[in-house]
Amino acid sequence: MEKKRIQIFDTTLRDGEQVPGCKLNTKEKVKIAKKLESLGVDVIEAGFPTSSPGDYQSVQEICKSITKAVICALSRAVEKDIEIAGVALKYANRPRIHTGIGTSNYHIRYKFNSTPEKILERAIYAVKYAKKFVEDVEFYAEDAGRTENEFLAKVCENVIKYGATVINIPDTTGYCLPEEYGNKIRFLKENVKGIDNIILSTHCHNDLGLATANSLAGVMSGAEQVECTINGIGERAGNTSLEEIVMIIKQNSHLNLFTNINTKLISSTSYLVSECTGMKVQANKAIVGINAFSHSSGIHQDGVIKKRETYESINPEDVGIDQSSIILTARSGRAALAYRYKKLGCFLNEHSLDLVYSIFLKYADEKKEITDMELKTILEKANLNKNINKVLHINTNNSSSNRRINIV
Ligand code: KIV
Ligand code: ZN
Repeated sequence: MEKKRIQIFDTTLRDGEQVPGCKLNTKEKVKIAKKLESLGVDVIEAGFPTSSPGDYQSVQEICKSITKAVICALSRAVEKDIEIAGVALKYANRPRIHTGIGTSNYHIRYKFNSTPEKILERAIYAVKYAKKFVEDVEFYAEDAGRTENEFLAKVCENVIKYGATVINIPDTTGYCLPEEYGNKIRFLKENVKGIDNIILSTHCHNDLGLATANSLAGVMSGAEQVECTINGIGERAGNTSLEEIVMIIKQNSHLNLFTNINTKLISSTSYLVSECTGMKVQANKAIVGINAFSHSSGIHQDGVIKKRETYESINPEDVGIDQSSIILTARSGRAALAYRYKKLGCFLNEHSLDLVYSIFLKYADEKKEITDMELKTILEKANLNKNINKVLHINTNNSSSNRRINIV
């Protein structure tokens, strides 16, 4: 069976940048956009041009610097927004306007004080108007997660009729369970005329920690595009994280799906986004957290040293990390200690290892983590360094403990 390609729509620079305290300037945005293009994303959502002159300028500059990826600009279903998005995209090789409106009862009644019929009219008008500026128009049905499937299908069918090339089904509030979201996508696939001629997209928020699971359910039910951000940043609890959905697809070949992402650039992209936005990645974050490929307990370390796969299902090299890390803590065993000394060029016999290990444990009980420099001090304490045939040279500027993960 032929594998189906899932398009990766990155919204780090739009939904991701909506996080409080995360402000990127144009230069940083262009730098991230270029990195996203080398990463292999299909679409870069560059911003919401009507929101500020700065965002407008960033979208324009990104259009000038990117050649392969589609550049997308967000707008509401408002003429002025659409017009500004269209002009901001003027220099793009492959421009896309992303326009839409809330379709759930919450949005129709409370946000717009409107009716389903009027919302449908506005949706159609927005798509027709956006088509005056670009051929590629993506429509979002905001809060689709809480929109009744029949009404959602009606909106989708109509916007397709008027030229939408992509339809986005956002679970704006992170409300759906994976089964529910998957069923919604399947319902649209089975009940909307013309749906096979457009790209159906997932856009899931992480309020219940289900964003990635919901996106996966979406693609397993027929969606062709996933909207996501690097490190999962975004409004409130964030969006589906790009690295998670991409690696899930890569690791599970039985899904018969693939993406165009060069996964070896995942770590360095995560690092760049974290540096530019000032948003630290939580240590235990899947794929890109500093602990994602680090082992600190004796049992796990012993297993990983014998064969990496005993405690790792993902090869760190696949995401651009040269090797797993063996972290020395009070929970570490002799195997890990010997391994780290060996990495420093120091081979300990059984007797020396026993001696060093007892001193190590005293240090480790007082510290969170033992560094290479401390390993050297431990050898000195044990009065062993002059007996060791290999000279132990530790470069303090490049101690493996300064930065656990070496990015290739
Ligand atoms: O979460 C959402 O509904 C959105 C839309 C504006 C696409 O980000
Ligand atoms: Zn969103």
